[in-house]
Amino acid sequence: MPKKTPEEIQAQREAWLARKAARAAGQDVPLQTTSAEPTSTSAEAVAEVSPEPEASPQPVVEVAAPEPVAVQETAPTLPPQAPATKRTPEEVRAQREAFLAAKAAKAAGVAAPPPAPKPAEAAPVPDPAPRLVEAAPPALKPRASEVAAPKPAPAKAEAAEEKVDPNITRREFLNYAWLASIALLTVQGIGMGLWFAFPNFKEGQFGGAFPIGDAAGALPEVNSGPKAYVDGKFWLINIDSEVNGEARKGVLAIYKVCTHLGCLYEWVPMTNRFECPCHGSKFQLSGDYIAGPARRSLDRFVIQAIAPDGSVKETDANGNPLEITGDERLVIDTGRRILGAPVLVPA
Ligand code: FES
Repeated sequence: MPKKTPEEIQAQREAWLARKAARAAGQDVPLQTTSAEPTSTSAEAVAEVSPEPEASPQPVVEVAAPEPVAVQETAPTLPPQAPATKRTPEEVRAQREAFLAAKAAKAAGVAAPPPAPKPAEAAPVPDPAPRLVEAAPPALKPRASEVAAPKPAPAKAEAAEEKVDPNITRREFLNYAWLASIALLTVQGIGMGLWFAFPNFKEGQFGGAFPIGDAAGALPEVNSGPKAYVDGKFWLINIDSEVNGEARKGVLAIYKVCTHLGCLYEWVPMTNRFECPCHGSKFQLSGDYIAGPARRSLDRFVIQAIAPDGSVKETDANGNPLEITGDERLVIDTGRRILGAPVLVPA
């Protein structure tokens, strides 16, 4: 074989690349010879670019190493294809299967079957849409977190509220409850005020009617010391004397609390008067002021004398002694206290 020049090798390479591009485009391109060898056949050209090293003594054989012409010779003749149409995957797969079958038949020495006619619908129709449809991802299974949680059952309270009256909203119900609470507190306040304004003490309890029985047995001797009633917090006095030029005759019930600052004064028999241990205020048996820081005489309670005929007489508004006959029944009303006469301060 004569030695090829670099120009011939370059021309042969360009021809090979052109054939490769044509086959990639689906065209059946026959082998061509280079201008340097106008009389050579395709077989010779293939032999020149054959990858067999012993067939080419020149180192330029490496240029023809990837030459696929040998495959071109052994491959069966493929059916004619549309030159410039884009084939679908099904067409490509069918064509490949036909090629493999023809190759296998040729290897077995059997004539290759004629290529199957193309179906009418297999005509080359440029339509990029099917690829997009085929490329559509399959429907994904929703994740557990994306699955909508089951709606919880309504609370029992809300259900009860709806059962009570579906026309009342929650806000209205709370407003009504608030108003009811305020009304209840108002009623309670009024009730407590009336209770303190009009106390209702039991009989025999301080603050209420305190019965002491018949006057003959309950009263002390006239002008003797007072008789203490601890539970009723009063002294019972039977007096018949003259105080500050005025007659004092009758029965008195004197409160046991000092009119100065509220200490419990005592009866002092030696001096025959009341004396307060706190600040030294002194009072006569009738409760009238004698000396000390107190600014008024001792307070007294109203005495009710109930006669056998049912008639009742009681202490006057000034707290003067109540004259009795001795057969009455006495009741001390500790709920009605009469303040002692104020002390006259000399000018
Ligand atoms: Fe009785 Fe002061 S409290 S004199």
